[in-house]
Amino acid sequence: MHKNSGNILLFGAGGQLGTKLKTLLTARGIVRPLYQKDLDLRDHVRLRAVIHETRPALIVNAAAYTAVDAAESDTENARLVNAGAPRVMAECAKELNALLVHYSTDYVFDGSAQTPYGEDAPTRPLGVYGATKLAGEEAIAASGADFITLRTAWLYSNHGKNFLNTMLKLAAERNELRVVSDQIGCPTYADLLADATLQMLDGLYANGAVRKERCGLYHATCQGSTSWWGFAKRIVELAGYSERVRVLSIPTSEYPTPAKRPAYSVLSNEKLERTFGIRLPDWEAGLKRCLAERSRGG
Ligand SMILES: NC(=O)c1ccc[n+]([C@@H]2O[C@H](COP(=O)([O-])OP(=O)(O)OC[C@H]3O[C@@H](n4cnc5c(N)ncnc54)[C@H](OP(=O)(O)O)[C@@H]3O)[C@@H](O)[C@H]2O)c1
Repeated sequence: MHKNSGNILLFGAGGQLGTKLKTLLTARGIVRPLYQKDLDLRDHVRLRAVIHETRPALIVNAAAYTAVDAAESDTENARLVNAGAPRVMAECAKELNALLVHYSTDYVFDGSAQTPYGEDAPTRPLGVYGATKLAGEEAIAASGADFITLRTAWLYSNHGKNFLNTMLKLAAERNELRVVSDQIGCPTYADLLADATLQMLDGLYANGAVRKERCGLYHATCQGSTSWWGFAKRIVELAGYSERVRVLSIPTSEYPTPAKRPAYSVLSNEKLERTFGIRLPDWEAGLKRCLAERSRGG
């Protein structure tokens, strides 16, 4: 991708991932960042109008209805944001000959695998969030637009509501944390995914044109795997609380939630590495980097 390569429309600019993408994309073109207060993605008529008025060369969709448990009872809103809005974005991308970069989730899988999921592994979401995200993926793939969908997992950053911030808050208040150890995945620092997105864009264009053979669905997470308990334990250690705070492992059955989650949702990043030469750091290295940036006020 080249500097000044055209207008870039960024949805979800205030989210964990969107915040970092906004900074990085600004160096690559004229970015129009959009927030929910400017445009509610449930309003598909306005969404279409805004895209056509901006005439972007690149649409990046970091917005999503990400409240996994709330989605179970708020199905229609989750569907409008996670399935309907990406469908409209893809239709507009096709009409304007723009590229759409979109994000999806490990929760499209049912967790019955024991080795990392490839992009072609059968999907079977266990909840509304995963089902609506899968519908969004499928609508994009069926649109005929040039697209990249990056499935990621267990995102966290120094901003917003996420597992890292919850654990740090609880560790400051309590001497004991009880965290589930029978869900295995890969914690992914959102800033590293934003970096990988920019690298991926660099490898996607040749002479200013999209290399269509590289478009499609990719898995993009940090490397390795752990449980929520393992992640919490490492957070507590690295934040310097381990002398005082005990992190106890519990089964999911002791922490019931409205949405069922996959027991195993590690994603193989082999296709991303083979196609673009991109390999995100190990999850522990990602966590260290996030905490280091936090202590520098980043
Ligand atoms: N978080 C995870 O653990 C995780 C895991 C796997 C995949 N993903 C995927 O990764 C991507 C980025 O996730 P994230 O964690 O960065 O999300 P996030 O921090 O929850 O941010 C989502 C953004 O979407 C916006 N949004 C939600 N509903 C909207 C609506 N009706 N209209 C307009 N904007 C709306 C939010 O705006 P407001 O802030 O104004 O509400 C927010 O800025 C998403 O596609 C998500 O599905 C996330």
